[in-house]
Amino acid sequence: MFARRVMVVGTGYVGLTTGACLASLGHEVVCADIDEAKVERLRRGVVDIVEPGLAELVSEQTSAGRLSFVVGAGVALGSFEDGRAAEVLFLCVPTPMGAGGVADLRAVESVIEEVGAELAPGTVVVNKSTVPVGTAARTAELLDWTRSAAEPDRVSRSDVAVVSNPEFLREGSAVKDFLGPDRIVVGSDNQDAAERVAALYARLGAPTVLTDAASAELMKYAANCFLAMKLSYVNAMAELCERVGADIGDVTEGIGYDRRIGQAFLSPGPGWGGSCLPKDTHALLQVADSADFEFRLLRATIDTNTRQRQRIVDKVRLAVTGKRTGSLSRVRLALLGLTFKAGTDDLRDSPALAIAALLRQAGAELVGFDPAFVDGKDGAAPPTEIEGVALAADAVSAAQGAEAVLVLTEWPMFRTLDWSVIASAMKRPIVVDTRNVVDPATLRRAGLTAVGLGRRGEG
Ligand code: UGA
Repeated sequence: MFARRVMVVGTGYVGLTTGACLASLGHEVVCADIDEAKVERLRRGVVDIVEPGLAELVSEQTSAGRLSFVVGAGVALGSFEDGRAAEVLFLCVPTPMGAGGVADLRAVESVIEEVGAELAPGTVVVNKSTVPVGTAARTAELLDWTRSAAEPDRVSRSDVAVVSNPEFLREGSAVKDFLGPDRIVVGSDNQDAAERVAALYARLGAPTVLTDAASAELMKYAANCFLAMKLSYVNAMAELCERVGADIGDVTEGIGYDRRIGQAFLSPGPGWGGSCLPKDTHALLQVADSADFEFRLLRATIDTNTRQRQRIVDKVRLAVTGKRTGSLSRVRLALLGLTFKAGTDDLRDSPALAIAALLRQAGAELVGFDPAFVDGKDGAAPPTEIEGVALAADAVSAAQGAEAVLVLTEWPMFRTLDWSVIASAMKRPIVVDTRNVVDPATLRRAGLTAVGLGRRGEG
């Protein structure tokens, strides 16, 4: 395997994972960020992101001399051993969705402005962020119009190739996903550059899809939107199960044995959230809109998800008041889990918080508990509230005086809580488990009424 000199610009969740993992594959990696304090922390092995194995990998690869951190892309360029040039530049800077579904490429632009003219001929610039179709082409255009600081005239960089190499990392298992990928996707109109990027991952032995840039860019959306569709389908099916007296667990197990469907990603829940699926479903709708294509299936996927939140609120209302139209005014509710899924402290687009907002609108009083916020960060005290939900130190305190406990994320610890202690702390013994994670028999033994999603006998 050829060890390559790789520069990664941006040390967020994607950039840092990419840098540390590529170093672990034997490449010489220099990561650049504009945040000096962050670079300083990374040099000391302090990783701010909650991601299993990442901090260890960063320390290990830094000590092995394969991974280093610098402030600024320009500095990174001159930081390789023996003053040699970077061969591959990964752009892992934010590319937020701007107006009309066009990615805001200001961060990419500023990196290119800084180093575009200085890149060695033959360098491959790789776009790893999730970006609308056409971004690789726009990046190539930017590169081709870059100007050197010394030389105000346009410096054409048609000798630098642009490649799209989307990531498929899940929060909470990013390192594992990077080092054990289902596939590697590399898209470029420059075949040679695409093959060089694919070769970076050769040791992983994953199936590799070599394609054009637009297909690679679309593939990322296609994957996330398909996953979202799978979940909306399961959530709708769970509702149907309730109406016809079937059981969603049995139904998904049964269909999952069909290898064309698969068992994974079939758990019903309070709706999908996080920083990727909601953003990417909307972005693909925009892509479709601008291509004059009405993507009804995707629209229905999103609508089903929005509706799921209200459906959970309706379930709580019915369980607590016994009526579909009962009032939740001043009803105290305990929310277990606020993050968008277990294993992360990420609250972005969290279904739990969306449901909390609806419950608050309905007049409920909320107390939450989430194991991700038991300890404060950097020695600070833990937060006392999150988006208007007061935080308790543990599940029992959250449940004190509550008329129902809602399980909103699938933290494993919720399965093994002492539910009889929780039951005795509550005003009324109701548990609405929106993830179907706590064994209903355990809840019933503790004297609690268990309400899940799509479960037989609960509808
Ligand atoms: C997602 C994709 O799974 C990754 O492949 C992709 O790389 C990533 O987005 C990204 O674009 O960067 P992530 O957002 O970390 O990863 O979260 P997932 O594990 O996919 O979960 C998404 C949502 O679906 C969560 O709210 C989760 O609770 C929910 N979910 C997931 C369910 O409700 N049921 C399931 O069976 C699985």
